[in-house]
Amino acid sequence: MSDSTSFVPETTDILAPWTYWNQEFFELEKEYIYKRNWLLVGHISDIPNSGDYLTFDALGERALIIRDENLTIHAFHNVCRHRGAKVVEGAYGNCPRALVCPFHGWSYHLDGQVRYIPRAETFPGLQQEKCGLVKLSLEIWFGFIFINFSENSESLASQMRTLVEKLVPYQLENIQPLAGTKYRQKRPYNWKIIHDIDNEGYHVPIGHPSLQQLYGNQYSDEIENGIPVSYGYINEKPGKLWSVRHYQKILPRFDHLPDDYQRLWLYTGIFPSMVIGFYPDMVEYYMSIPISPDCSEYIGAAYALPDVRREVKLSRYLTQRINQSTEQEDESFVRWIQKGIKSSAFPKLQLSTLEQGVKHLHQQIQQRIPVATLANEPAPGKVTKINHLMLSHH
Ligand code: FES
Ligand SMILES: [Fe+2]
Repeated sequence: MSDSTSFVPETTDILAPWTYWNQEFFELEKEYIYKRNWLLVGHISDIPNSGDYLTFDALGERALIIRDENLTIHAFHNVCRHRGAKVVEGAYGNCPRALVCPFHGWSYHLDGQVRYIPRAETFPGLQQEKCGLVKLSLEIWFGFIFINFSENSESLASQMRTLVEKLVPYQLENIQPLAGTKYRQKRPYNWKIIHDIDNEGYHVPIGHPSLQQLYGNQYSDEIENGIPVSYGYINEKPGKLWSVRHYQKILPRFDHLPDDYQRLWLYTGIFPSMVIGFYPDMVEYYMSIPISPDCSEYIGAAYALPDVRREVKLSRYLTQRINQSTEQEDESFVRWIQKGIKSSAFPKLQLSTLEQGVKHLHQQIQQRIPVATLANEPAPGKVTKINHLMLSHH
């Protein structure tokens, strides 16, 4: 097919299958979606002390989040200004006084300023004050730490402002990590497939027996001011599964929560791929980071307010157990779809009104990458060009 101005391609208001495997489209997603939106890297309680840091490698970038002597949190590229080595190693740790690059020993203060350059006289004309670590956009929202690889995104607090009132009761600034809950795993599927499944509750009655018993018909997915929010109110009818039945019975009252939160599982989505689940007894987040069109990293962790009650310990165990079986169930759906999406008989999605969350994500992607509105895969080498053209006509 030759380029032709008279040719009008077929468009679609949900993503077509080609957007799940096309390498050029995948590069656009990294550029226009992941590198220009806030990414959740942890919580302030993960790095409570001076010198505590965590790192976050994604999309070819390396981030370092560290707390300085005044307990201020900073975010930098974890890239030495000399020749680009990693300044710190590992997913987390503590650098008590200074960050020392392991390659040639350039060192930095905890606020990123250069501290010492060995044999500095051998760098004629070097302006040390300009050699500090390169800052990254950082935002702390309810104690959750977000970074952004772009400098000019709308602040997360402003994006999420309509949700604030709803979240205040959870006292999220005071939550602490729950030991052993942090994970980061490679999974063999496109990042969108996970969220297509996660963004609708239509599959809960059949796909998730434990969730169905837990909140059954008292579950709803909403889009509130552009933000996906889901509500599951715990069923009073005892579940058949022992984890659900025991959870229903054991879950105690939490004095910091209002009455209508006592038996609520609340979830919110943050574009592009983060979900935070607020349960009466704990909080968890998960997200996906794209590695390739058919591989993603799945990342998450759980937190909770300090509470030594025995029944709270048990209820948290059961919350995690219920979520684990849900996740295993979703995992098989995801794998089936990943395998099926290249089938020539793969359907144009037919969405129920209960699946509005799927369409919502697709349209957010289409707004940022207009070539995603095309029903058919463009010829090789044309995806980026067509997208540029469409962007300039916007
Ligand atoms: S690369 Fe860090 S000191 Fe040389
Ligand atoms: Fe699910």
